[in-house]
Amino acid sequence: MKIEDLKKRKALEKFFNTEVFKDGKKTLRKYMELMTYYRCAIMEVETKLNVLNEEFSLEHDRNPINSIKSRLKSFESIKEKMDRKNIDHNVESIEKEIMDVAGIRVCCSFIEDVYLISDALLKQDDIKLIEKKDYIKNPKPNGYRSLHLIISVPIFLASEKREMKVEIQLRTIAMDFWASLEHQLRYKKNKRFTEEMQRELLKCADDSAELDLRMSKLRLLVED
Ligand code: GTP
Ligand code: MG
Repeated sequence: MKIEDLKKRKALEKFFNTEVFKDGKKTLRKYMELMTYYRCAIMEVETKLNVLNEEFSLEHDRNPINSIKSRLKSFESIKEKMDRKNIDHNVESIEKEIMDVAGIRVCCSFIEDVYLISDALLKQDDIKLIEKKDYIKNPKPNGYRSLHLIISVPIFLASEKREMKVEIQLRTIAMDFWASLEHQLRYKKNKRFTEEMQRELLKCADDSAELDLRMSKLRLLVED
């Protein structure tokens, strides 16, 4: 996004209430800088994940990572989250309070790969674990499964090193299939899940978890 983008700029100014401050331009600049740092952090983590995938496929003749999708949280979503959580509108609070400005979703082939990749990443001495939520061992009541990590990773700029937070969601292809479709269904206009629909979704989640287990057993038979 360019600062010249007038509509976006107006929205940003309104949000940070910068019209009333003399340093309006500075605030917008700081926001743009912060977003750039998050983009760099995404690049750093993606590279680490790709390196692990390459190394593993060389050793084991298969890819533990099926796909990596990254996204930078949009200004609209940042705004919505800050308002929902009653967070002050300033650039510092974004960095301090919003853990998922940089988001990476890693889809793995087998459940074991999720832990293999996550352990290998967390062992790296420049990565700090801030929070871990294991919704694979403890699925959400609706059936949602994934391993969520909030980490910090250093990015190296011309004259400084900055620690940036990144949210990583690791899951199997089956977990991703369920989560993607559940998300689509949940955001259908004018329709809410009935209890019966929720039960059916939970059953779908349990069935796909069962498939993951069966595929893992097959993997054990063909790999040594
Ligand atoms: P936030 O403040 O929204 O980040 O809440 P939280 O930190 O408690 O969220 P959590 O770590 O549990 O989940 C964050 C992200 O995981 C969401 O933005 C979704 O991408 C994903 N997620 C969590 N629960 C579900 C779910 O039930 N269905 C789907 N499809 N995705 C989910
Ligand atoms: Mg979260």
